[in-house]
Amino acid sequence: MKNLIFASILFALLLKVNAASFQLNKRAITFGSCDLNFPVDLLEVKIGTDHPEFGKNESFDVSGTLTKYDITKGETILQIEYGNSNGSLIAVPYVQNFTDSFKAGTPFNVSAQVPTPELPDSYEIYVYVGNPELFACASATVGGSSVKS
Ligand SMILES: *[C@@H]1O[C@H](CO)[C@@H](O)[C@H](O)[C@H]1NC(C)=O
Ligand SMILES: *[C@@H]1O[C@H](CO)[C@@H](O)[C@H](O)[C@H]1NC(C)=O
Ligand SMILES: *[C@@H]1O[C@H](CO)[C@@H](O)[C@H](O)[C@H]1NC(C)=O
Ligand SMILES: *[C@@H]1O[C@H](CO)[C@@H](O)[C@H](O)[C@H]1NC(C)=O
Repeated sequence: MKNLIFASILFALLLKVNAASFQLNKRAITFGSCDLNFPVDLLEVKIGTDHPEFGKNESFDVSGTLTKYDITKGETILQIEYGNSNGSLIAVPYVQNFTDSFKAGTPFNVSAQVPTPELPDSYEIYVYVGNPELFACASATVGGSSVKS
């Protein structure tokens, strides 16, 4: 029964490889700095369902500390965008007013429920805080083979 044992070892190996490539495709979405040519503060972003599902709301918990700017209730906005890899927008950006004010240097947090558009295999998520000039940003690259540097 040597052959049978060999076959089941091979099968187990194949299963492992499949599981590994599955996890690669479905790897968790992590946010990092935006690729901008001017300095802005980095936002910390946590999302609810990973990956976002079309037609449902995705929850975004956004926090951080602005070094230079104040967040002003009714003036500063939180903006969330889904974009294609080439930078074009997938849907109309989601915009929400801040309902509390936070002085520069004070940690803040805000939550949003964002409708998820129909998404391609590879896309970008951008989260901005601004007034409308950009105060802080975070972005994530989802899918595709390119690893964000
Ligand atoms: C944000 O507030 C401004 C004025 O305070 C208002 O004109 C605008 O409609 C609000 N936007 C949203 C998305 O609630
Ligand atoms: C960007 O990519 C999307 C999806 O692949 C495509 O529909 C759109 O036309 C492209 N836009 C530009 C400006 O290349
Ligand atoms: C901010 O964070 C605190 C503590 O984690 C939480 O209780 C609160 O609901 C958050 N507020 C918003 C607007 O997300
Ligand atoms: C989705 O979020 C929007 C606000 O961003 C809200 O108006 C709407 O009721 C939410 N829908 C569901 C099903 O929770």
